[in-house]
Amino acid sequence: MAKVASVHILPSTFLVFSLLFSSGFLASEAGEEETHDVFGRTLDPKLMGLKKEKLSHFRFYWHDIVSGKNPSSIEVIHSPVKNSSLLLGFGLTHIYDNRLTMGPDISSKLVGRGQGLFAQAAQDEMALLMAQNFVFLEGKYNGSTITVLGRNPILATVRELPIVGGSGVFRFASGYVQARTYSFDLNTLDATVEYNVYVLHH
Ligand SMILES: *[C@@H]1O[C@H](CO)[C@@H](O)[C@H](O)[C@H]1NC(C)=O
Ligand SMILES: *[C@@H]1O[C@H](CO)[C@@H](O)[C@H](O)[C@H]1NC(C)=O
Repeated sequence: MAKVASVHILPSTFLVFSLLFSSGFLASEAGEEETHDVFGRTLDPKLMGLKKEKLSHFRFYWHDIVSGKNPSSIEVIHSPVKNSSLLLGFGLTHIYDNRLTMGPDISSKLVGRGQGLFAQAAQDEMALLMAQNFVFLEGKYNGSTITVLGRNPILATVRELPIVGGSGVFRFASGYVQARTYSFDLNTLDATVEYNVYVLHH
């Protein structure tokens, strides 16, 4: 390598190098063996097949089912704090795999799942830390995911949470979601929430 680098770099040599580098890049994208002498470099987004960024909107309903024989949301950490003025105790944590449906009725068309966790992370108000992946099941979005991480003060009319990334068609995703409670059963604690997703992706 050192010997090659010391000779004059002719335009044709440069071309060969570019070809080597781009084929090395393709090899790594294809999961094949690659050379181990480059740690980081700038890439042309076109080489990644990236098209112009676009904005997509999705609307669906998220069903947090706590009650019954087949809950989709389960308490995994119990709160040790007793504060009867709060619905959920400080520290209470759920893991969930909730249905995402087209309409507010849970039996309407399934378009994806919301998989994640929420924890009551405020001591004197209702505000959850939510970390969840939306995995879509529809058409060209099937198998692609959007990751949302944020604060959810569940009693507010509209809550906004940031989109922190995505996979598949949502690679390089950014944006936000708006959550609005559609129904909430105070006895069972089952909830249906309308989500509007505004996502920038390529
Ligand atoms: C219980 O919650 C209320 C607000 O709803 C707050 O004012 C109070 O400090 C809390 N008490 C404890 C012990 O955390
Ligand atoms: C989504 O992908 C899964 C697995 O690849 C497949 O079984 C399923 O039929 C697909 N669904 C739709 C609606 O294309």
